[in-house]
Amino acid sequence: MLTTERALYWLDRWDRQQEYYMPDREERFAVIADVLEELLERTDPLIVDLGVGPGSLSRRLLDRLPGASVVGVDADPLLLGLAERAYGGERLRTVYADLREDGWYDRLGLDRAPDAFVSTTALHWMNRAPLRAVLATCGSVIAPGGVFVNGDHLYEGPGGERLDALNRALTTRRAARAGVSRDEDWAAWWSAVQDAPELADLVGVRNGGFSHVVEDRPTARDYVDYLREAGFAEAGPVWQCGDDRIVVGIR
Ligand SMILES: C[S@@+](CC[C@H](N)C(=O)[O-])C[C@H]1O[C@@H](n2cnc3c(N)ncnc32)[C@H](O)[C@@H]1O
Repeated sequence: MLTTERALYWLDRWDRQQEYYMPDREERFAVIADVLEELLERTDPLIVDLGVGPGSLSRRLLDRLPGASVVGVDADPLLLGLAERAYGGERLRTVYADLREDGWYDRLGLDRAPDAFVSTTALHWMNRAPLRAVLATCGSVIAPGGVFVNGDHLYEGPGGERLDALNRALTTRRAARAGVSRDEDWAAWWSAVQDAPELADLVGVRNGGFSHVVEDRPTARDYVDYLREAGFAEAGPVWQCGDDRIVVGIR
């Protein structure tokens, strides 16, 4: 049986393996919370976490914004199960939906317009066309003055190959300086999950996970263009460390 204590154990391992790829992940979470604190006027904002995974970003936002509530959406039932067991309750609700499919927003069952859409390390799993559609939905439903905040590996794309190589190298150097643990990478974490008796039920529901093939990767410029096109009055980068960046749109 998956206890809250064991869920928290797996989430801690998740955070360590994610830091292997993003040595400034905690700083990135903190900056996203700063953005919300700076821009949101309501003391009880409704936040949607796109690709919530096991809830790392959501938990940090709930800690920083005591009046906030979060609805997290994801297409991985195992990660959602961990989030629910560890943090689920009145302030964090999770919903299973694939952001590439029409109707994902309706499945959230919200009773008011969200004040913010946030995401970390998730949207780079999407091709340009579905990402554009997701951002269009966000722009059409968000409350006036609402914000979109995405922290992810973002790229220059064609014509920016040397900058992209440089940014990747800077991330690697930063990781070495920060001394992030390299005990476990993505594959090793999933392999350990597969063998954990308390996760057997969730592994079964996950059934190998959903496939994502990224053939048409969005660039950092695409994010800005799509956000403007979606009705966000202003959009642009607000933070960067190597290839790890935060882009903000203000409706
Ligand atoms: C690397 S994890 C990041 C999770 C979490 N946001 C974090 O920062 O730790 C990427 C997440 O995005 C989710 N994801 C990717 N593509 C998705 C899609 N099309 N629909 C819903 N969730 C998606 C994955 O299931 C996974 O939970």
